[in-house]
This record gives sequence, C-alpha cells and structure tokens, in this order.
Amino acid sequence: MSNTGTKPKTSTPQDTGSILDRVDKVLASYTHEKANLIPILQQVQQVLGYLPEEALKRIAKYVGDPECNVFGVATFYAQFQLLPRGRNIVRVCRGTGCYVKGAPRIIEELEKLLKIKEGETTPDKEYTLETVACFGSCALAPVMVVNDKVYGRLTAEKAKEIVKGIK
Ligand code: FES
Repeated sequence: MSNTGTKPKTSTPQDTGSILDRVDKVLASYTHEKANLIPILQQVQQVLGYLPEEALKRIAKYVGDPECNVFGVATFYAQFQLLPRGRNIVRVCRGTGCYVKGAPRIIEELEKLLKIKEGETTPDKEYTLETVACFGSCALAPVMVVNDKVYGRLTAEKAKEIVKGIK
C-alpha cells in the first residue's frame, strides 16, 4: 500500500535541532550504505514517531542516496508515516463488507466528532483517524480498531461513544 500524496511535515527551526540530534544518534549505529536505508527509516520512525522532511534529508545525505529516492521509499511503504500521529489511532474499515454495513456513516460521524478528516490528526495530537482496506474481520462488519483493540458490529453512535471514552 502506498502513502502517495502525503506531504512531509516541516518542523519549526527550534524543533529541527532536537530532531536532527535524534536522527544522528540513530545514524551513528549504521554504516553509510544504501542497503541500510529501510532499517534506518524504521528506527528513526520508532524514535520520532514519524519521518519529518528534515530527517529524510539527513538520512539521504548519510546513505549517499538522492533525496528524491529516499522520499520515494518513505512514501511507497505504508509502514512509514510522514506526518506526526496522535496518541490514539482510530482506524475504520472501508472494505466492501464494512462499507455496505455503514462504514461511510461511521467515518463521517467520527470526522465530525474529532473535527478532522480521514488521514488527519487532531491539533492536540490526541487522535489520528485513518481508514484501512480490510481488517480481515469481515464477519464483524462494520469494524473499527482503536489502538489495536477491535470493535465490531458498530453503529455510528457506538463508534462515537467508544472514541469519546478513550482516555
Ligand atoms: S471489509 Fe471490513 S473487516 Fe473486512
């Protein structure tokens, strides 16, 4: 799956120093080889929670790969996040099984509740709302997963209550 279309966030100058310091700490444990790109991206994301633009530029320079290649890899793989995510990840299935049982209404109501669109994070970084193609739990349609906990046979109202109840 691809993340194409998501633009990396640019940090403020005061953030940049600490981001790059943390990136450099990760880089220090790798040699300057292009083959290290994916493991470096994975570890930097683990440390920062996402891959900001300045981190990708630093990594590109370190492994000696053009920036466009590194950005290409980071946007191609769904495992990489180019934007900061919230403390709580709310994912709603938009697969056919869930779609016909009301997923669009659930997504719409959660967008209203959280005042964000699918793929976005609330300004306080509490919630990220995402959709996925299928959780593989179609018998429970419509399905939502909040921080790895699965909720099935939902209505829009139930989904809102669950999200409101997250601490
Ligand atoms: S279609 Fe929603 S879990 Fe499969």
